[in-house]
Amino acid sequence: MPGIRILGTGSYVPPRVLTNFDLQKMGLDTTDEWITQRTGVRERRIADPDVATSDLSLEASRKALEMAGLTAKDLDLILIGTITPDTCCPSAANWLQAKLDAPQAVTFDVTAACSGFIFGLNVATQYLLTGFSKTVLVVGAEVMTRTLNWKDRTTCILWGDGAGAAILTKDSGGHQLLSTHIHTDGKNGQDLLMPGGGSRTTPISHESVDKGLHTLNMIEANASFRVAVRHFVESIKEARTTTRSPSRTSRGLFPIRPT
Ligand SMILES: CC(C)(COP(=O)(O)OP(=O)(O)OC[C@H]1O[C@@H](n2cnc3c(N)ncnc32)[C@H](O)[C@@H]1OP(=O)(O)O)[C@@H](O)C(=O)NCCC(=O)NCCS
Repeated sequence: MPGIRILGTGSYVPPRVLTNFDLQKMGLDTTDEWITQRTGVRERRIADPDVATSDLSLEASRKALEMAGLTAKDLDLILIGTITPDTCCPSAANWLQAKLDAPQAVTFDVTAACSGFIFGLNVATQYLLTGFSKTVLVVGAEVMTRTLNWKDRTTCILWGDGAGAAILTKDSGGHQLLSTHIHTDGKNGQDLLMPGGGSRTTPISHESVDKGLHTLNMIEANASFRVAVRHFVESIKEARTTTRSPSRTSRGLFPIRPT
């Protein structure tokens, strides 16, 4: 079974830094000590108002292409894992495609929040293994700070802006992607959500903005945290077991090559 090779990677964060102390200065009822003790976060990057997700993605993608020794014309699939696309329609991957000048590629976004890049890797793998694609650009990128309520100390301390990119191909050499593991549990949707802007509410209205429905709402902070930690441990064990037993496959997983 041929492997999936990582030809190049790249990352980009915008230059503007917002520290925990800056948040305090903005009047948020929090401290650097509280945030660093619970999250390890001391500072986050903030995109300028005219910078969108495809702009961050472009910088990361250029670095990944350079490392891979390829040009955008070599790509036949471009995926962005994001919940903060430049526009609801078209996708962020569409905008990135135009900026990269890669009209030969197929493009779409993958919506899986924090797991977006991992889901993107998994989707890219399936396209490579079926032979539909030969060279795939996978990006994980967010401008999360646009979705935050800066008066809500339970959420605005947690997120920032940035992008990471990888170029994948089907090949047995170089750095190999050993396995990907993806799972979802739809029952937890109410714990952490962006309620406005979809078909559940009027997409955009004065009322929905006044209620803060366009921002990230964490209804049950500890619930999300507990679910994330439990499943992260399970996924690590799953990856370890799978990479030790090359014949094993599991949901959303491609057959593994021995290490
Ligand atoms: C950050 C986090 C670890 C904190 O968890 P915690 O220590 O259990 O804290 P809680 O949210 O229960 O809040 C405890 C207290 O701190 C307060 N608090 C919350 N945010 C605060 C902040 N930024 N600064 C100071 N106090 C804060 C709460 O109001 C609460 O006070 P109370 O007991 O008087 O009501 C947790 O909320 C978290 O990780 N959440 C998000 C994780 C997540 O969902 N990530 C994305 C998944 S895809």
